[in-house]
Amino acid sequence: MPAPNFDVIASLSKRRGFVFPSSEIYGGMAGFWDYGPLGVELRNNVKAAWWRHMVHLRDDVVGLDAAIIMNPRVWEASGHVAGFSDPMSDCRSCKLRFRTDDLKGPPSEIACPNCGQRGTLTEPRQFNLMFATHVGPVEDSASVAYLRPETAQAMFAQFENVATSMRRKLPFGIAQIGRSFRNEITPGNFIFRLREFEQMEMEFFVHPRDEDEWFAHWVEARHRWWTDVLGIAPERLRLRPHDADELSHYSKQTTDIEYEFPIGWSELEGVADRTDFDLRAHAAASGKKLEVFDEKAGEHVVPFVIEPAMGVDRAVLTVLVDGYAEEQLAKETRVVLRIRPDLAPVKAAVLPLLRNRPELVERARRLTADLKQQVTAMYDDTASIGKLYRRQDEIGTPYCVTVDPESLDDGAATIRDRDTMTQERVSMELVPQRIAELVEGRAQWEGIPREPAGAGAP
Ligand code: GAP
Repeated sequence: MPAPNFDVIASLSKRRGFVFPSSEIYGGMAGFWDYGPLGVELRNNVKAAWWRHMVHLRDDVVGLDAAIIMNPRVWEASGHVAGFSDPMSDCRSCKLRFRTDDLKGPPSEIACPNCGQRGTLTEPRQFNLMFATHVGPVEDSASVAYLRPETAQAMFAQFENVATSMRRKLPFGIAQIGRSFRNEITPGNFIFRLREFEQMEMEFFVHPRDEDEWFAHWVEARHRWWTDVLGIAPERLRLRPHDADELSHYSKQTTDIEYEFPIGWSELEGVADRTDFDLRAHAAASGKKLEVFDEKAGEHVVPFVIEPAMGVDRAVLTVLVDGYAEEQLAKETRVVLRIRPDLAPVKAAVLPLLRNRPELVERARRLTADLKQQVTAMYDDTASIGKLYRRQDEIGTPYCVTVDPESLDDGAATIRDRDTMTQERVSMELVPQRIAELVEGRAQWEGIPREPAGAGAP
């Protein structure tokens, strides 16, 4: 069973150092969160898994890391200045603001969802979601610039530079991971809807005649990434094609990948067929030709774009929610994060069975140092072994290594598997390599099955 609600995950995240409310000592800030020591590792692992599959393992996609602030004309050409907005209604009484689409009826007829007063909600007004700032010393309308609301536009603005410098022919893609900012009216549900978040987007440029084929390819490939690479349960994922009336202004067809969160089915990623909307818009606004020569047809074409776009934070949330499990053992409930070993913040924890034996502690610390050469590892001797196991289970550490008095004689340690709690005795010299192989899926677990341990037992 995944996590029953977001509160359980938010509480675990704070207690164990995954995610903290931003600037919490000052009361926090809605829509902004900080990733703690374990969160930053998990997040980096999710991003690395995307980059590997999207860029490194493919011949037809290259990367980009563009500036967050771009020439504001980019956002005029893309349609964001005129149209990147949500309808909103304000309550004249309590002053709160609501997305009109979230209200349970027309604002003129319903009571304010916060203060309950009737007739206080204003008619819907469009509210632009871009954060504006000023560049340079003078704050006037000529110095206005925007924090990017999506990473995608940089791929269109740099289309020509990337295609030329990398000698690309169709089809090819440009991928980017980076921060985006949206002044969401109703941020919330922990890290699901944020005002500062990170996106992983890829713009795949194809010949217009190949549009449908590539759209189908990317919907299928992206769905497979969520199941096979992130390890998300297939029964809690679904594909949902957009109805015509919900398509973005640039999209001809979009299919969302959704996850069944405790709040219901919600979007993780969208695969959109953006046609030639963006390249034509930027070509018209900049006066530069944004096209490629198609050798087959012997003519210049403006490519169509298929875009898989996802949020890093939603992926982190999905991994946490989907991996969360509570198991009833003989004497206690075990909380365990069953996340893929390659995503886990800590791959191996070295736990000495006795902390008052200096030579044992010294050996365990040496093993930790050796392990760190191969994987992320930590040493912990601050509690009883049973407690130490539970702590590691809760943060998803796939392997715990115990060093016991016998280790000093036989030079071996015990590796314990998080999910089965079975154990395997391995020569300490071979432990780092063994764990690296297990994490990378190059080795099979050969632990001896044993009864699940009760409270306090290894
Ligand atoms: N370039 C297309 C684009 O930005 P989008 O559907 O607005 O499309 C893509 O965003 C993905 O970015 C979403 O599927 C979601 O995972 C993530 N995302 C969008 N807004 C977000 C927000 N306010 N907080 C967290 N993630 C968000």
